[in-house]
Amino acid sequence: MLRNKKILIGVCGSIAAYKIAVLVRLLVKEGATVKIIMTPAATAFVTPLTLSTLSKNEVLYSLATDSSWANHVLLGRWADVMLIAPLSCNTLAKMAHGLCDNLLTAVYLSATCKVMLAPAMDEDMWHHATTKDNIEKVKSFGNLVLPVHHGELASGLTGEGRMAEPEEMITYLQQYFQQNNSLAGKKVVITAGPTYEPIDPVRFIGNHSSGKMGMALAEECRNRGATVLLIHGPVQQALPPHMKTISVQTAQQMYDACMQAFDHTDIFIMAAAVADYAIAEISGTKIKKQENELSLTLHKTPDILKQLGALKKNHQILVGFALETDHEKENAIKKLKLKNADYIILNSLQDKGAGFGHDSNKITIFDKAENCFEFDLKSKKEVAADIINTISKKIHA
Ligand code: C5P
Repeated sequence: MLRNKKILIGVCGSIAAYKIAVLVRLLVKEGATVKIIMTPAATAFVTPLTLSTLSKNEVLYSLATDSSWANHVLLGRWADVMLIAPLSCNTLAKMAHGLCDNLLTAVYLSATCKVMLAPAMDEDMWHHATTKDNIEKVKSFGNLVLPVHHGELASGLTGEGRMAEPEEMITYLQQYFQQNNSLAGKKVVITAGPTYEPIDPVRFIGNHSSGKMGMALAEECRNRGATVLLIHGPVQQALPPHMKTISVQTAQQMYDACMQAFDHTDIFIMAAAVADYAIAEISGTKIKKQENELSLTLHKTPDILKQLGALKKNHQILVGFALETDHEKENAIKKLKLKNADYIILNSLQDKGAGFGHDSNKITIFDKAENCFEFDLKSKKEVAADIINTISKKIHA
């Protein structure tokens, strides 16, 4: 599983750094290519010579020497995974706030790959409110934080804060690469954002959807090896790279784009907040101010998810969203059946921090057997991973 994988290890100043020699040895044995960068403090705990001998690569620990500059951007792009182990309190705090005063933090900020963190610190530092906050912050950026263990600590005390063992880190890396490939060869279509239904040349009916959930899902699928098509309504946010995108305005345009793509799709996720009604007759000129009331006639838009459900073949997986304000579970199950979807992802406007515009979401997933999986409030990146894990399990069952 780790053969030919490119692992970049970032070592911080902590007594647990001596274990990295064992980790490097195990990784090289597994066939991985290992490069190592260190913070200046780490070099006091284990020498660059030890780690370069074991990894068979030069170990870097400074941004520049008298005559050369370490290209942190290229290093960050080179790796399949960056593993920062041991992660000290100091480097954690820098990562949480975007500080960048040494090679390791510069590479971290430039890394486009998955980043895993193996913290190591004394129990009191581990339990400090600042550390807890910083850990939550780096998790919300999409980094994977490995658990710390209870046991003997460098201070002589016994408690929580021991770094994960090298063998355990190898298992995490193996699991990551296995999961990372879980959608290899799959074609995924995801819709995101609102639709705008024009009233006249200057006005429209829209909604508050930001498209963040759909885009997080698209990135998650792409990271797991799928070919992704993102069909999106008007969104402010930058579109995720390395995927095909189609920009639409109205429900009808989204319907047309979805229908065209559906036949060749393995997994279709309707995360867009599609308008249910559109103006029956769009005025060609700006509607003038009238007396007290103005009536507009609205027509129902096509229900894309329902139509896809009617066309769905056995091998295709169809996922819809349900944003509810009341009778959430009943409505979600009703929707699952009515639209012949395989999964409905429920998010309730009753939950603080969930739904439109937020960077976080709280979901419950319903499947066809009416199983229901509830999740905590998490970043939309983490929510996307939970959704795709659930779907992947079905594919690989
Ligand atoms: O019926 P309701 O609009 O609540 O269902 C929500 C789900 O249906 C979402 O997945 C949404 O993307 C999809 N939908 C659709 N076409 C519409 C309206 C909603 O595909 N016209």
